[in-house]
Amino acid sequence: MREAARAEDLLEWYDRHARDLPWRIGPRARAAGVRPDPYRVWLSEIMLQQTTVPAVKPYFEAFTARWPTVSDLAAAEDADVMAAWAGLGYYARARNLLKCARVVASEHGGVFPDSQEALLQLPGVGPYTAGAVAAIAYDLPATVVDGNVERVMARLHDEHTPLPDAKPVLTGYAAALTPDERPGCYAQAVMDLGATICTPRNPACGLCPWRPSCAAWDAGTAAELPKKVPKKRKPVRLGIAYLARRVDGAWLLERRPDKGLLGGMLGWPGSEWNEAPEEAPPIRAEWKTLPEEARHTFTHFHLRLTVKTALVPMERVPSRGEFVELPAFSPSDLPTVMRKAFDLARGS
Ligand code: ADE
Repeated sequence: MREAARAEDLLEWYDRHARDLPWRIGPRARAAGVRPDPYRVWLSEIMLQQTTVPAVKPYFEAFTARWPTVSDLAAAEDADVMAAWAGLGYYARARNLLKCARVVASEHGGVFPDSQEALLQLPGVGPYTAGAVAAIAYDLPATVVDGNVERVMARLHDEHTPLPDAKPVLTGYAAALTPDERPGCYAQAVMDLGATICTPRNPACGLCPWRPSCAAWDAGTAAELPKKVPKKRKPVRLGIAYLARRVDGAWLLERRPDKGLLGGMLGWPGSEWNEAPEEAPPIRAEWKTLPEEARHTFTHFHLRLTVKTALVPMERVPSRGEFVELPAFSPSDLPTVMRKAFDLARGS
């Protein structure tokens, strides 16, 4: 008879194998009484949504160096925060990040609320983030379910119902295992197990503290779980980006509207993105089409962006956007697709 998985076994493994992460208070320090800073926990959890740990690390370091507290972040200029987020993707996160920081600063005295219910009221904070902050920052026994946890639970219970239908069942399994002792360490331990041992491909079952309890190990099905409903193929959309450079070196840029894709980010003026975009030059010029397109994949489509460049005289006035001179404009302020277009233009 297989033994039920126990949180203590995972915590014991975590005490020896916890990853050292810049936002984390490791098990040793935690045992010595060091408490996590809820601001750093919240910031890391927002950044880690749909984004890998290696991609997040430098952004997390840069944000916390520049804005060490939530009140510092609340007082930042929108454009500075959007520029600092450039390259991380899913830009609605950055807009909500600022909204949330401002609510915490103005309505909560700069202190994150310490209950899941109150956390859920904050902008951009859904059940996952509220649970993660409650557990990790405040050591409350919240159930925290991300993709790692879903995979671990599906395997532990040999659950073959495909995601997303399996979500409620997997959440139930996760809730049943969540301990009252050290729930913050436990939440991070399941994530670490999923990230380092119970990996999507080639899981290292030989090293897993829960192997004696794992139904998928017994059935030999670990590597094929969790099942997922096949994703729809992404359609291709086309677009045209206009990169105008003035003779003094200034570039013609446009801030995108807050709503919609890349909302609030800086970018090149351009056409709509669809099956057959119409020309939309932002300024009269002799446009040159680059031989290579900028390609980028968004959540719901692949984009192929035709890049057009032009050199324009000082006095010419654009119908859209604004010329930004070089010290004020840094290519690293651009979201990745716009940066790709810039790199093509610069190399042309
Ligand atoms: N992924 C999401 N949140 C995480 C965390 N707190 N630690 C490690 N990986 C994570």
